[in-house]
Amino acid sequence: MARQILVLNGPNLNLLGTREPDVYGADTLDDILAELRAGVAGRDVELRDAQSNSEGELINALHDARTWADGVVFNPGAYTHTSIALRDAISACELPVVETHLSNVHAREEFRHTSMLSAVCLGVVGGFGKHSYSIAIDGLLAHLDTL
Ligand code: DQA
Repeated sequence: MARQILVLNGPNLNLLGTREPDVYGADTLDDILAELRAGVAGRDVELRDAQSNSEGELINALHDARTWADGVVFNPGAYTHTSIALRDAISACELPVVETHLSNVHAREEFRHTSMLSAVCLGVVGGFGKHSYSIAIDGLLAHLDTL
């Protein structure tokens, strides 16, 4: 049966392509998602995607993923650094979640060095631009193969 993966993106990531391209790259979120889908073609993987600027909607998406997904690749944007509610949602959904960042948050401002979420995630990928997402998917699929 196909692996079902949710690619979930948080606040401001809808602006990729125009948002600080020197930090986040020139690709739009749609470009990145199209590349991810092309990358898993023929691998019996179904990618669904969602983006929201609202913390509550991201929590709802994680709750909903419990009912269908095998795992989640999640770029929580700035909520990474602030959201205990998202941390609790990740714990509650009992799915493997890979915290994913385009930029290397540890090479940036101090407030980005703390993640509320990493401790309840399967793993963390960051610093590889759009490739962070494909690396996260590969890691998640490798993990699912061990179950
Ligand atoms: C980000 C890093 C966060 O610190 C920032 O708030 C974002 C994007 C990244 O993908 O590098 O919105 O998650």
